[in-house]
Amino acid sequence: MTEDSAVHESQKLHPLPLRVMHWTNAVAIFIMIGSGWKIYNDEVIFGWLHFPEALTLGKWAQHGLQWHFFGMWIFVINGLCYLTYGIATGRFRRMLLPIRWSDLIVTVKEALRFRLSHDDPTKYNTVQKLLYVGVICAGFMIVISGLVIWKPVQFSELLELFGDFQNARLVHFLCMAAIFGFVLIHVSLAILVPHTLIAMITGGPKIETRETANPLESGSAS
Ligand code: HEM
Repeated sequence: MTEDSAVHESQKLHPLPLRVMHWTNAVAIFIMIGSGWKIYNDEVIFGWLHFPEALTLGKWAQHGLQWHFFGMWIFVINGLCYLTYGIATGRFRRMLLPIRWSDLIVTVKEALRFRLSHDDPTKYNTVQKLLYVGVICAGFMIVISGLVIWKPVQFSELLELFGDFQNARLVHFLCMAAIFGFVLIHVSLAILVPHTLIAMITGGPKIETRETANPLESGSAS
């Protein structure tokens, strides 16, 4: 490939499909957590923990369950689209990987000294990468444990992975706690660094994604 024939493909930092999936997911998570808390309150795992009724979704537990199943379909279908998109377009490789211990230590030290740079919005720092990959894994586990709780007979092989029904319920709860903790940190950071929030709405700056030798191969994104 000569210099002249090299074409740089560019697209927005957060292309339209990614933004649509991100905000759809935010709505689905809101429905899933609110209705999940309603269902939990009906039969608690920890005697000391009841969620405030004002923060739950659904008039009573059965109604909460209907909301939960409604949100589940949005969350699962949207999540599968996001995983397929992230792998097929190379976004996961480009934006979320690699995660190196050495980079993580440097980023944590910078964060503790309040010296984390937000000058380049086109790259996630290592803590962000770890949080995003972590929440994707928690999303995967919450679906698997949810399937087991929903249909323990049909998914009996999966049930065996957890040991028993109560363990699956506990894993489901802990994944919810991890996702909820992530959302608290994530939303706080988005408010503290508002240009990242604006980029997740408008798409943000154009970035180069790859070089190609054939101009016909290059396409413009959203
Ligand atoms: C109202 C709630 C939310 C707000 C305001 C918000 C905001 C944002 C912003 C601003 C970014 C870009 C970060 C950056 O450029 O530095 C982002 C990315 C991301 N958010 Fe959220 N978010 C919300 C809810 C969620 C939820 C509920 C999840 C998952 C449980 C989530 C998962 C992610 C992931 C995985 C990315 C990285 C996406 C990628 O680059 O492929 N977000 N979010």
